[in-house]
Amino acid sequence: MAEKSKILLIGGTGYIGKFIVEASAKSGHPTYLLVRESTLSNPSKSSMLDSFKNAGVTFITGDLYDHESLVKAIKQVDVVISTVGPPQFGDQVKIIAAIKESGNVKKFYPSEFGNDVDRTHAMDPAKTAFATKAQIRRAIEAEGIPHTYLVNNCFNGFFLPRLAQPDATAPPRDKVVIFGDGDTKAVFNEEHDIATYTIKTVDDPRTLNKIVYIKPSCNIYSFHDLVSLWEKKIGKTLEKVYMYEDQVLNNLEESPAPLKKILSIWHSVFVKGDQTNFEIEPLFGVEASALYPDVICTTVDEYLNRFI
Ligand SMILES: NC(=O)c1ccc[n+]([C@@H]2O[C@H](COP(=O)([O-])OP(=O)(O)OC[C@H]3O[C@@H](n4cnc5c(N)ncnc54)[C@H](OP(=O)(O)O)[C@@H]3O)[C@@H](O)[C@H]2O)c1
Repeated sequence: MAEKSKILLIGGTGYIGKFIVEASAKSGHPTYLLVRESTLSNPSKSSMLDSFKNAGVTFITGDLYDHESLVKAIKQVDVVISTVGPPQFGDQVKIIAAIKESGNVKKFYPSEFGNDVDRTHAMDPAKTAFATKAQIRRAIEAEGIPHTYLVNNCFNGFFLPRLAQPDATAPPRDKVVIFGDGDTKAVFNEEHDIATYTIKTVDDPRTLNKIVYIKPSCNIYSFHDLVSLWEKKIGKTLEKVYMYEDQVLNNLEESPAPLKKILSIWHSVFVKGDQTNFEIEPLFGVEASALYPDVICTTVDEYLNRFI
């Protein structure tokens, strides 16, 4: 059997990155983590780093903004997965430059892990963030770097613990705000499953230079579907208030920056239906649950049970 690719994570100590580091090590890929000096001595990251160490992850001290450290790290691996956050989206050109110089990378995953940024109707600030991710795609393609773009749609942990209520900390028990007409479908995936699928694509030629969509049919839900599932679980009917597109756009104008960011994403996902309003064509994409039917993923139905 062919050897498993060596994987370098850049951003592996972040929210989604830590799940991918774990999944990579667990599946037997030699796993490397580019980690900043300051993070190695950060007490809030120490238990995560300990668990990585116990799982056999190799740490390479470095920084996205230190070219030599990037090249040194990249030369040791076959595949690079970036899960850096928004401030670093555009600066992933530095990873592209280091990959070009290293000359040994079989595949690069830029930081995506959300909507398909080439098929979006987002408003700002999401629009600009998505456009920056799309520019990184174009830079990868212009340099001829083999790649996979991982489109997992919604992280469960970002949407479901508050039943997609932007300013809530728990799912509502009296009143729920429904964004858009309530019938637009979105896709929700649990973070371990996202990581499992991501790692499965690494050595799979069917995913080379493709967008991999994680879109299992059991996790495609409209706002109405989500609310009625939650109502069944708590045995109660919620008061429903609709926020249609014109009001979402108005609120977008007037909200402070953190809420603006959330509202612009909610607008793209729940009003415009950007996760489900196009067909996945074989020319550009493949769907993960079809590629890997052996993966038993967490359903939205199961996931919501933890909040009852
Ligand atoms: N689909 C969804 O629902 C959803 C939700 C949220 C995010 N996302 C997407 O997921 C992706 C990752 O976001 P996230 O929220 O997981 O990110 P995050 O938690 O902010 O993590 C960012 C990572 O980048 C690292 N980093 C920052 N500056 C660096 C530097 N100079 N050199 C090397 N590493 C550096 C951080 O390291 P330290 O630990 O050292 O700080 C951390 O590991 C993004 O593309 C984002 O758009 C999707």
